[in-house]
Parts: sequence; C-alpha cells; structure tokens
Amino acid sequence: MATGIYWCLVLTECLSLVASMASVVQFAQTAPDYSIVCPGDRLVLTCIVAETGGAVVWQGDGIQRLLLTSGPMNGTLNSFFVNINESNSTTLISTAIDNNVSVTLDGANIVCLADGANAKQFTIDVADAPVSVNNVSVNDSTIPVPPIQHYIINVYSASNSIIFNSNTANTNITITGLPLTDTNYTITIIPVNVIGYGPSATVNGTIYYNSNCH
Ligand SMILES: *[C@@H]1O[C@H](CO)[C@@H](O)[C@H](O)[C@H]1NC(C)=O
Ligand SMILES: *[C@@H]1O[C@H](CO)[C@@H](O)[C@H](O)[C@H]1NC(C)=O
Ligand SMILES: *[C@@H]1O[C@H](CO)[C@@H](O)[C@H](O)[C@H]1NC(C)=O
Ligand SMILES: *[C@@H]1O[C@H](CO)[C@@H](O)[C@H](O)[C@H]1NC(C)=O
Ligand SMILES: *[C@@H]1O[C@H](CO)[C@@H](O)[C@H](O)[C@H]1NC(C)=O
Ligand SMILES: *[C@@H]1O[C@H](CO)[C@@H](O)[C@H](O)[C@H]1NC(C)=O
Ligand SMILES: *[C@@H]1O[C@H](CO)[C@@H](O)[C@H](O)[C@H]1NC(C)=O
Ligand SMILES: *[C@@H]1O[C@H](CO)[C@@H](O)[C@H](O)[C@H]1NC(C)=O
Ligand SMILES: *[C@@H]1O[C@H](CO)[C@@H](O)[C@H](O)[C@H]1NC(C)=O
Repeated sequence: MATGIYWCLVLTECLSLVASMASVVQFAQTAPDYSIVCPGDRLVLTCIVAETGGAVVWQGDGIQRLLLTSGPMNGTLNSFFVNINESNSTTLISTAIDNNVSVTLDGANIVCLADGANAKQFTIDVADAPVSVNNVSVNDSTIPVPPIQHYIINVYSASNSIIFNSNTANTNITITGLPLTDTNYTITIIPVNVIGYGPSATVNGTIYYNSNCH
C-alpha cells in the first residue's frame, strides 16, 4: 500500500514537471521610478521567472550569465551586477544593477531568459547628453586676409552675460561645462588676423535636457 502511494506521488510530480513551462513572469525597470534613466543613476532591472528549476540567464551585448540557486548566485554582465535575490520552489527573483549608468548604455538591450524559448527583452533609455551646438562654420569669404590668427568665441546666456570665452586657432572645438540652469545661448565667433576683426558669425543654441536629470 505504502509503495503504491509512493509511485503515485512520483508520477504526479513527473506530470506537473512536464506540464509546467518555464516563463518570464515579469521583467521591468524597478529603479529609478522614471523611465528615462539619467547618466550616473543607479539602474535596477528586476526579472521574475517561474518554473525554471532555480535558474535564470541574463544576456546583454552578446554576453550571457547563468545564475543558479545552487550557485553561482551572482556575477557581472558588462556594467551590471546580476544576482538572485529571492527564490522558492517555483519562482525566482533576479536583479541586474548598474550603480552608475553611462550614456553609452542608451538603447542597449538586456534580455532575461527563463530558458531557450522563453525570454523578455528590455531596452534601456538613457537621457541624451545635452544637445550640443556643433558644426558652426565661419564663411571663408568673410574671413579677412592674411590668414586667421585665431577666433574669439563667446557664449552668452539668455540674460546676455558672457559665460564662456575663448581665443582659439582651432576650427573644431567643444565647449563643455555650460551651466544647465540656462537652456538658450548665443554663440559668437569672431575671426581675428593681424589687421583686425572680421565679421562675426552668430548662432543661437538651445540645450535640451531631461528634467529628471538635474
Ligand atoms: C556573490 O556570491 C558569492 C558566493 O557565490 C558571495 O560570497 C558574495 O557575497 C556574493 N556577492 C554579493 C555582492 O552578493
Ligand atoms: C535585490 O538585491 C539587491 C542587492 O542586494 C537589492 O539592492 C535589491 O533591493 C533587491 N531587490 C529585490 C526586489 O529584492
Ligand atoms: C514563491 O514565491 C512567489 C513570489 O513571491 C509566490 O507567489 C509563490 O506563492 C511562492 N511559491 C511557493 C511554493 O512558496
Ligand atoms: C560614474 O561614471 C562617470 C563616467 O564614467 C565617472 O566620471 C564618475 O566618477 C562615476 N561616478 C561614480 C560615483 O563612480
Ligand atoms: C557641417 O555642416 C556642413 C554644412 O551644413 C555639412 O556639409 C558637413 O557635413 C557638416 N560636418 C559635420 C562634421 O557634421
Ligand atoms: C559667404 O559669404 C559670401 C559674401 O558675403 C556670400 O556671397 C556667400 O553666399 C556666403 N556663403 C555661404 C556658404 O554662406
Ligand atoms: C571635431 O572634434 C571632435 C572631438 O575632438 C571629433 O570627434 C570630430 O571628429 C571633429 N570634427 C571634425 C570635422 O574635425
Ligand atoms: C529658448 O528658446 C526657445 C526656442 O527659441 C523658446 O521657446 C524658449 O522660450 C527660450 N527659453 C528661454 C528661457 O529663453
Ligand atoms: C538668435 O536669437 C535672437 C533672439 O531670439 C534673434 O533676434 C536672432 O535673430 C537669432 N539669431 C540667429 C542667427 O538665429
């Protein structure tokens, strides 16, 4: 009699194993609470899988990390620390954490796999770096001869005060460190040679930024 019950239990267990399907129950960003992540943020992706027998696989940028409740329970996936936070016989909660999100993560796809056939993908959205005003060209024919010695570059804030000033012979410069309290700027470029100043080129720049990020 006792043997009969034993076999029945084993059979039921086998049937339930065959019937159950590994699945990704949920895969979402759990921190920060706004969807567009700012550079430097701590990003947490939480994946809940069911019926995987205590396994979860993380994948990103061609790399895969297999985590098991029997170990290893944590590891790294590029800039992420991945671990198994909680698990019971059916369900497993795993997180991928990046403590200092870089803009290069923008558009990156992270995949959480329950098995080879069941996976969910999450695309990371990182706020763009402020849009820069670039490729400002000075019309060659307006430049006085003989050749330019340097350019005077000024950036004015919306309230018209000079917030950046540089004398440079470089025709390709990047201006960094503008205060993000202002969004609109006027940039003037004045070519200078031994004779004097040429006509200036003026462009208006607007910097767009994610309000969560400041
Ligand atoms: C990662 O797992 C190892 C054992 O597998 C453990 O000793 C270590 O503390 C874990 N690291 C973290 C940060 O949880
Ligand atoms: C998962 O573990 C990490 C690191 O220990 C912790 O910061 C996070 O809050 C945990 N998440 C969940 C959903 O338990
Ligand atoms: C396992 O954990 C999940 C999520 O926390 C819960 O819904 C489920 O009832 C648990 N199952 C068992 C057998 O404890
Ligand atoms: C975060 O990353 C940026 C760029 O890689 C670096 O400059 C900064 O020091 C890092 N911050 C921390 C707290 O690690
Ligand atoms: C700069 O602008 C000119 C004219 O709009 C364009 O032909 C050129 O490709 C641009 N150069 C760069 C590096 O974006
Ligand atoms: C450059 O300036 C000259 C003289 O003002 C003008 O004729 C020419 O169209 C300008 N070229 C460009 C590309 O703006
Ligand atoms: C301008 O400088 C930047 C940074 O140094 C560089 O990436 C870019 O290719 C340069 N553009 C041109 C047109 O030289
Ligand atoms: C900046 O410029 C935009 C577009 O020209 C304008 O809509 C906005 O009001 C300006 N903002 C400030 C603070 O001047
Ligand atoms: C820059 O903005 C000022 C004020 O909004 C406007 O008068 C001027 O025409 C703009 N200049 C250019 C080159 O767009």
